[in-house]
Parts: sequence; C-alpha cells; structure tokens
Amino acid sequence: MKPLNIGMVGYGFMGRTHSNGYSQANHFFDLEYKPVLKAVCARNKDKAQAFADQWGYESVETDWRELLKRDDIDAIDICTPNNLHKEIAIAAAEAGKMVLCEKPLSMDTAEGEEMVAAVEKAGVANMVWYNYRRVPAVTLAKQLIDEGRLGRIFHYRANFLQDWTISEDVPQGGEATWRLDAEAAGSGVTGDLLAHCIDTALWLNGDITDVSAMTETFIKQRTHSETGETQEVKIDDACAFHCHFKNGSLGLFESTRYARGHKALYTLEINGEHASIRWDLHDLHRLEYFDHRDDSIVRGWRSVHISDGDQPYMGNWWVPGLNIGYEHTFIHQVADFLKSLETGEPIEPSFRSALETQKVCDAVLASAAERQWKDV
Ligand SMILES: NC(=O)c1ccc[n+]([C@@H]2O[C@H](COP(=O)([O-])OP(=O)(O)OC[C@H]3O[C@@H](n4cnc5c(N)ncnc54)[C@H](O)[C@@H]3O)[C@@H](O)[C@H]2O)c1
Repeated sequence: MKPLNIGMVGYGFMGRTHSNGYSQANHFFDLEYKPVLKAVCARNKDKAQAFADQWGYESVETDWRELLKRDDIDAIDICTPNNLHKEIAIAAAEAGKMVLCEKPLSMDTAEGEEMVAAVEKAGVANMVWYNYRRVPAVTLAKQLIDEGRLGRIFHYRANFLQDWTISEDVPQGGEATWRLDAEAAGSGVTGDLLAHCIDTALWLNGDITDVSAMTETFIKQRTHSETGETQEVKIDDACAFHCHFKNGSLGLFESTRYARGHKALYTLEINGEHASIRWDLHDLHRLEYFDHRDDSIVRGWRSVHISDGDQPYMGNWWVPGLNIGYEHTFIHQVADFLKSLETGEPIEPSFRSALETQKVCDAVLASAAERQWKDV
C-alpha cells in the first residue's frame, strides 16, 4: 500500500471525525493508498499531545507553518475555525501539499476565489468536507434524480434547525463558541448550516440563479468568552431564503439556532413530476420515496431502509438490515479521496465546486442586508 502522510490542523469536533475516517477507511474499502497519521497541529502542546496519543498521531506541532515545512507530510487537513481556512490552504498549496479543507470553504467568495486560484496554480489535489453528500440515503437520492425517476423537478426544500443559542448567557468567541463570533465564523447559520443545505442542493438539483433572503439576530449582545466584554452580536442567528434554480424549480431554505427541541434537524424534500423524496438527518439511514406511477391501490410514501448491498456504500459495511451512522460519512469521504488519487479522477466537492456554495451564501447575506433579490 502507498502511504499518504496526513498533517491535521485542529483537533476539535472535526479533528475527531476525520481522524476516525483516516483510521477506518482501509478496513472497509479496498484502496491503494493508506493514510498515515503523521502529525496533528494545535496551539496547546499538551492538549495536542493528548489527542495524538489517543488517536495515534506520530508527532505534534504547535504552529501550522512548521507543519507545512515538513517533507514527511503529503496532505494538510484544515479542521480549524473558518477564519483560518484561507491562510492555511493557500500556504499549504504553495508548499505543494494536497489540501483537504473543512466547510465552509472560506469566510466569503473573495477569499474562496483566492483559495481556488492557489490550489489550481499549484496543481494539488483538493477537496472540501461537505460530508452529507456521502450519507448513503443522500447519495441514493442523487442516483434516483440522475436516473430521471422524479422527472421534472418543481420544488427543493431544506431546513437545518438547532436550538443551542437561545439563552442570552451563551458567550461568543473563544474555543467553544467561535461560531457566534463573526470575526472567526464569517457568518452565523448561513455559513455554518445553510452551507451544507446549499452544497447538497447544488449537487442534487443544479445551479441557483437568484435569491431573496431574510436574516435575524435575536440576541443583540453577548459576553466574549475570553475578554469578558459585552459585544454586539454580528452573526445571523436565523436565515430563511427562497430562490430559483436554473432548471426552473423553486427553492425554499431555512436555518436557525432558535428552534427549541431541534438539535441538528437537517431535512430535505424534493418534489418532481413523477416522484418525491424526503430525507431527515435524525433518521439518516432512511430515504422516503413516493412514486405516482405505482398502482393506485398500493401507492403511498415508502420509507426505504438504506442497508442493502445494492445501495450506495452499503456493500462495504455489514449485512442487509444493519445501519451505519454519522461518522461513516467521513469514512466514505476519505475512501473516495484515496480512490481519486488512485484513479486520477478528481474528488468532489473540490475547492472550485465549494466556491459555488460560497457565492450563494454571499448573495443570501447581501439580499437580507439590502432587502432585495440578488443574482448569484
Ligand atoms: N462537515 C461538517 O459537518 C462540519 C461539522 C462541524 C464543523 N465543521 C467545520 O469544521 C471546522 C472546525 O469546526 P469544529 O467544530 O471542529 O471546531 P472546534 O472548535 O471543535 O475545533 C477547532 C480546532 O481548531 C483549533 N485551532 C484554532 N486556532 C488554531 C490555530 N491558530 N492553529 C491550530 N489550531 C487551531 C482549536 O484548538 C480546535 O482544536 C469549521 O470550519 C467548521 O465550520 C464542519
């Protein structure tokens, strides 16, 4: 097997999902390349060392620039808050490293364009971790749409609902709550949650041409977790937009962190001329499907349990009837990335594809700010 030496920056939530992906991919997929956990980088050496010990990384760095200088690193995996993606990605590409970057690609389109230019100029393999494409049920939805089973698409609807910032006591900024600080996150739910919905939508239903959006910041001031100062909240707590797709269908998207009772409720529904599909992250191993062409006496919504070897990725897992979960989306993405190195067929989403999501996010935020329709 050919080793692929990984240098990962950041060891938080995504650092764990990716490390698990690197560790598991070769156990379940036949691949020429095998990731080697060479180094993890974070500012706190003790914490980084503890992470390295737990996950099996060979070494630790405390400055990502040092990681880029190392000849024994092939790929840089960026698992840091959004405001660091651009600087690390561009420097990594210039150092000739492959770049795997967490979503959203960047803080905005302008940054994203620089990042695309850098990886394309360097000619390095690149990808963005929009992992929901690799939930088998969502991959199956793509297959059904591409086979024409839905016919002409009329509606695309997606929500991503959470409830963790309702209390005004939740601080902003710092290690645990950087998502509430516009300086670190770029935007609120638009870049954090709707970016996932938009990436899946562009993949399943094609380009979005124009958008009309509204955003709200329900809690206007919060205490900064590091300085203790009370500061204005500059992120969008909630965002809803409607849009036109290039294929003539209409889109409706909503995201909030103020939907009491919902933790990570990503749902999508697509209505076509012949059939509709519906998917829900809380029940991620099921795809609901309604086909009007069924005999009328048995016609109805089917809840398809995605566990059969014929369904995407499932032939690599257990036996029919047994499900897999959230962490497997990252294992699939690692496996697909390694396969792309083997075949030379670029992995999706690339930086260039992820830039399209960034353009929609920018149009959504501009539309909300100016209370006007915006072209993407
Ligand atoms: N694909 C997904 O579903 C998904 C889910 C969650 C987060 N994300 C994305 O992943 C990224 C990280 O999010 P997270 O939830 O893992 O955050 P996190 O807060 O859990 O982890 C962030 C890590 O970055 C490290 N870090 C911060 N500044 C650093 C620096 N200067 N040098 C080195 N390390 C530094 C922190 O120490 C921490 O280990 C974000 O871009 C986020 O949008 C994606």
